[in-house]
Amino acid sequence: MTQAAEQQQGVQAATPARLAIGSEQHKHLFCSLLLDTFDPYRPAVIPWPILAPETRDHLKNLGFWDLALETEENAGRRMQALADVTEDPLIRRAVALNAFEERRHKAVLEHMMRFYGIIPKGEVRAQPIRNPRWAFVRTGYGECFDSFFAFGLFALAEHAGFFPAELVHVFEPVIQEEARHNLFFVNWLAYTRANLAVLRQPRFLAERAAALAVQIWKRIGTGKEMDGDNFTRKGGSAIGVDIGPRGFLELCLAENERRLSRYDPRLLRPRIMPAAAHVAMRLLRSGGATR
Ligand SMILES: [Fe+2]
Ligand SMILES: [Fe+2]
Repeated sequence: MTQAAEQQQGVQAATPARLAIGSEQHKHLFCSLLLDTFDPYRPAVIPWPILAPETRDHLKNLGFWDLALETEENAGRRMQALADVTEDPLIRRAVALNAFEERRHKAVLEHMMRFYGIIPKGEVRAQPIRNPRWAFVRTGYGECFDSFFAFGLFALAEHAGFFPAELVHVFEPVIQEEARHNLFFVNWLAYTRANLAVLRQPRFLAERAAALAVQIWKRIGTGKEMDGDNFTRKGGSAIGVDIGPRGFLELCLAENERRLSRYDPRLLRPRIMPAAAHVAMRLLRSGGATR
């Protein structure tokens, strides 16, 4: 068992068996989820493995590095903006840590790109933040979407041996951090809603619905914009693995479950992406997809 998992179990033991969503115990549990499982790795000292020229070319040609840098930059800024206006000291600490981890993801990418000679196509565009809560909710839903597929793609890359194990291991903590962030986000949403005055709840619900709609729309737009380069759209074929859409969704579901299973079962789980994946798999089955 990892130290992080042991720490999370320690939280479980000290918390009553039934958890009331919106309670102090709930708050302590979802904040401890982030604060107690922090992994202190440092991007500047990551020992990047030497890659064969062919593997290095594969890495360069994945085509989403600029988008990844921009996503991490904006996620870090939006999360920090929420931390800066959060009054509760424990939640503020947890959200600030989330922001730090996003900035660190960007630093990992920058170090990797420099080491392997991947040149960014342009400057990272930082978007202005007018409403920190809205920005955080938007980012949280975006991460739930993206990491659900990233979990599956990461497992494919690992099992197919497309990248050497040393390189996969470097990114393991980054991927696991996104699972923690998703879990933190859905619990923060439920906690925040439960603690809002009844009159302010409709606005919060509307914000959530709008954030969700924006993220769906953005992904449709990104899919069109990137077209041939879109790693998620290409799925397994982008990393040389022959897998059908149903098989891929099954893998994403299993990986999502596996990554979240390390944390306290009383915390709420992200539901939208697993539910959407089940619906898509049913449709594929009824449409005659064999795999
Ligand atoms: Fe991130
Ligand atoms: Fe994240």
